Amino acid sequence: MNEVLKGAFERARAAFIPVCDNECAALLEELCRRIKPRRVLEIGTAVGCSSSVMALACDCELDTVDVDGARIEEAHKLWRDLGIEGRIHAYLGDVRQLLFRITEGKKYGIVFIDGPKSAYKSIFLHAAEHLEEGGVIISDDVGYLGLVKGNGYPPHKHRTIVYNMRSYLEYISQPPYETKIMWDKGGGIAVTEVKEV
Ligand SMILES: C[S@@+](CC[C@H](N)C(=O)[O-])C[C@H]1O[C@@H](n2cnc3c(N)ncnc32)[C@H](O)[C@@H]1O
Repeated sequence: MNEVLKGAFERARAAFIPVCDNECAALLEELCRRIKPRRVLEIGTAVGCSSSVMALACDCELDTVDVDGARIEEAHKLWRDLGIEGRIHAYLGDVRQLLFRITEGKKYGIVFIDGPKSAYKSIFLHAAEHLEEGGVIISDDVGYLGLVKGNGYPPHKHRTIVYNMRSYLEYISQPPYETKIMWDKGGGIAVTEVKEV
């Protein structure tokens, strides 16, 4: 990995900023190299690590959104240092309010959902409408502390999020969607294709 980007990942982890882990980064890189999307949508910018992985792996334009302005500012510094700032368009605010505006009139080859878990399904449904043929939607951290896999009874404080995530995964595994869940990668990663019905 590029040394500048490696440093950014290390600084983020040291500061407990939840950036994607190495396996997820490797998967994003592989998918970008394979699909060669012209445009990528990312939900959850944080300090710009995963967006940099994707923008360095293919010659895409990338839209990304985060509610935390300080993180977006730091991300801009990273993109500038990496020479990719011109291809990345960062939106500050709540994805639930901004998504329609960001995606208006656009199609994406890759969508990476790594933001608020409670909004995964609504983001997914909207993203699916804006997905190019042959594109994929990647949902990160779907294993949620290892509690989502199986039918186990989750601890009370995690119950809602675990049940919602199970129902999300079930939904995105039914036609017209085809989803591969990699429980052992990252915090659990789901990769979804939309198939013709
Ligand atoms: C897991 S981090 C993203 C990590 C980043 N994708 C990476 O791997 O480098 C999730 C981000 O989602 C942002 N977020 C949470 N709720 C949000 C919302 N409602 N709208 C937009 N961003 C949100 C948080 O501020 C946080 O930076």
